[in-house]
Amino acid sequence: MPVMEGRSVAERWKADAANRAKACRARGIVPHLAVVLVGDDPGSQIYVRNKEKACEKAGILSSVIRLDADCTQEELESVVKELNEDEAVHGILVQLPLPGHLSEQRVIDIIDPKKDVDGFHAVNAGKLACGQKGFVPCTAIGVMKLLEAYDIPIRGRRAVIIGRSNIVGKPLAMLLLAADATVTICHSKTENLKEITRQADILVAAVGRANFVTADMVKPGAVVIDVGTNRLNGKLVGDVNAEEVSQTAGYLTPVPGGVGQMTIAMLLSNTMDAAEQYGF
Ligand code: GUN
Repeated sequence: MPVMEGRSVAERWKADAANRAKACRARGIVPHLAVVLVGDDPGSQIYVRNKEKACEKAGILSSVIRLDADCTQEELESVVKELNEDEAVHGILVQLPLPGHLSEQRVIDIIDPKKDVDGFHAVNAGKLACGQKGFVPCTAIGVMKLLEAYDIPIRGRRAVIIGRSNIVGKPLAMLLLAADATVTICHSKTENLKEITRQADILVAAVGRANFVTADMVKPGAVVIDVGTNRLNGKLVGDVNAEEVSQTAGYLTPVPGGVGQMTIAMLLSNTMDAAEQYGF
């Protein structure tokens, strides 16, 4: 069964962002992503480090603002407000999840939508739902670019997404719908899940549970996109039982080296969109 190599597709997008960053710098604008990291969650530390490395390689300035795990909502919001006002900053990303005492929604609400390179602000979510131009969440757009790179037909096809998060499931449903798929979103309360997933030509797993998708849930020949990043016995694994599903699926994205790579590439691309809108 063919594997969809996120890594090589992502490399092309990263190279494109690097070219755009170079052109931007030549016009006197240094593209700048500010990342806000609260606390010391090990997963978040790794994600943020990877984002920093990717920015550096692409010629995008990144700065990480670290706040203690016990910081207050007001402290966090005042950092974001300062970044909103800072003309040298083009993109703002608040790494999620936040410690439990902080409201993710409230902090996302105050990010300037023009700097919201995560595409999480309600203005950008609304634009996506209405088919207007705006920032689109990186993982969701990354999945679309991966499907595109592999010439996977979408129009008229049945797409099933397992997971209804604002970060992945919902925005990806909007994008697949805009590409003329027939879209179903499944979640923890869905009845007869297997019957639904077995109808999918394109099956997306964004559940957050290791080995959740088994071979009996997959239509033979289906394209299976694994968005999961779970730690199992110290190893990074997806939401799909790859050993089983690779026998049934037509295509499968690997973990690591699949969708995760695309997420970072799309973050660079969104940051360049933000920087180019500034002063052009
Ligand atoms: N945590 C997990 N994925 C993401 C993401 O795409 N953006 C942010 N800000 N936090 C995350």
